[in-house]
Amino acid sequence: MQVWKDYQEKNKERFLNELLELLRIPSVSAKAEHKPDMIACAEAVKQRLIEAGVDKAEIFATAGHPVVYAEKIVNPSKPTVLVYGHYDVQPAEPLELWKSGPFEPVIIDGKIFARGSCDDKGQMYMHIKALETLIQTNTLENNIKFCIEGEEEVGSTNLAKFVIANKELLKANCVLISDSAMISLDTPSLDIGLRGLSYIEVEVTGPNRDLHSGVYGGAVANPITILAKMIASLHDENNHINIPGFYDEVIISSDAERKLMAAAPFNEQDYKDDLGIKELWGERDYSTNERTGIRPTIELNGIWGGYTGEGAKTVLPSKAFAKISARLVPNQSSGKITEMLINHLQKIAPPYVTVKATLHHGGEPYLTPINTSAYQAAAKAIETCFGKVPIPVRGGGSIPICSLFEKELGVKVVLMGFGLDSDNLHSPNEKFDLANFYKGIETIPYFHKYFEG
Ligand code: BES
Ligand code: MN
Ligand code: MN
Repeated sequence: MQVWKDYQEKNKERFLNELLELLRIPSVSAKAEHKPDMIACAEAVKQRLIEAGVDKAEIFATAGHPVVYAEKIVNPSKPTVLVYGHYDVQPAEPLELWKSGPFEPVIIDGKIFARGSCDDKGQMYMHIKALETLIQTNTLENNIKFCIEGEEEVGSTNLAKFVIANKELLKANCVLISDSAMISLDTPSLDIGLRGLSYIEVEVTGPNRDLHSGVYGGAVANPITILAKMIASLHDENNHINIPGFYDEVIISSDAERKLMAAAPFNEQDYKDDLGIKELWGERDYSTNERTGIRPTIELNGIWGGYTGEGAKTVLPSKAFAKISARLVPNQSSGKITEMLINHLQKIAPPYVTVKATLHHGGEPYLTPINTSAYQAAAKAIETCFGKVPIPVRGGGSIPICSLFEKELGVKVVLMGFGLDSDNLHSPNEKFDLANFYKGIETIPYFHKYFEG
């Protein structure tokens, strides 16, 4: 639509400057010291929604970080789209690996570098600017609600409670989320699934205190060695997970589905070059896309213990720790897998140590069919703006609230992501291409135009 194009072209610079301002707020949900920044960020999001022209915008306090809610109801008899996004970000560490400050956004080669540029402030902000475009050009025909939370990166536990308590407020005909990736601007895709998550922390205790590694070494088991062995035993020689029952509930994809997945373009050499690795790794008999899309995994997210400071210290430590997470696929259950992981680690612990394992957070896997009117509206919007029909693919990441939205609100989620896998999410030098940012703002209004409920 020419009016949209004209409006967006005229306001391009401002859109970007507003996003940069949002990126300057260090809204790290995991750290208590950022509580004031979380509140400031929620306030800023609310303010921007008001400026975009919503009827009402409100901040809801939770037991954790606040939820921002807003709505523009143009005609109650028309369908309503609930837009979800998150204003919180992952911790920026390790800081020394950033080329510029994580909360001092810079634009280099047409890319915005900052924590949250892609995940998810940049993508969430596209929706606010799309809404502004629709309202300011008098072309909004459907109703739009916004639910922007501050705890996605820590598991969305309080948002889950908020959704359960506010079903009427959030009532909608579909949920629209831009918090994932597409293959590229040349090869647009839409995620039709996300993996679930089980996240635990393990503490392995050997002797009741740190010991001199010469005086006791050789006679007392070292908890770091024991933990390393336990972890190594979680995969077999085919990189298949070695926990009895782990795959029991996994839905095995049909040959037809696997064939479809194989048709999505993937350049293995580019993938390896981008990551600086010589060989790929993974479960035998599955392709790279299958390994991240339709197969569950176990990853070590952190491991520590003993002396890691400057110089050398000859110590046989009392304790070793690890953070371990499993990515889950339909029809696995986060609760069941967490329990299975904890029990398994207890079971394989040798008598030299005691193992304490605790849950961090989790989330269920999610699948969305392609025959819904919401998916079709997203596909048509992409086709209009990219000139190509998007390829349906499975995303490897997790958005825990998706399955809860479906369960509690009874509607499907559409994942219209505009990021790239190579955007360095959760890593140093996170970025978002300006071209993707603007393309998202251009495409989203078409979703609202095409969605018929
Ligand atoms: N936006 C991501 C999820 C994502 C990334 C989906 C790329 C598809 C493609 C989200 O912010 C995220 O990082 N989620 C966490 C889960 C959470 C419970 C910590 C994740 O996937 O690790
Ligand atoms: Mn995200
Ligand atoms: Mn994230």
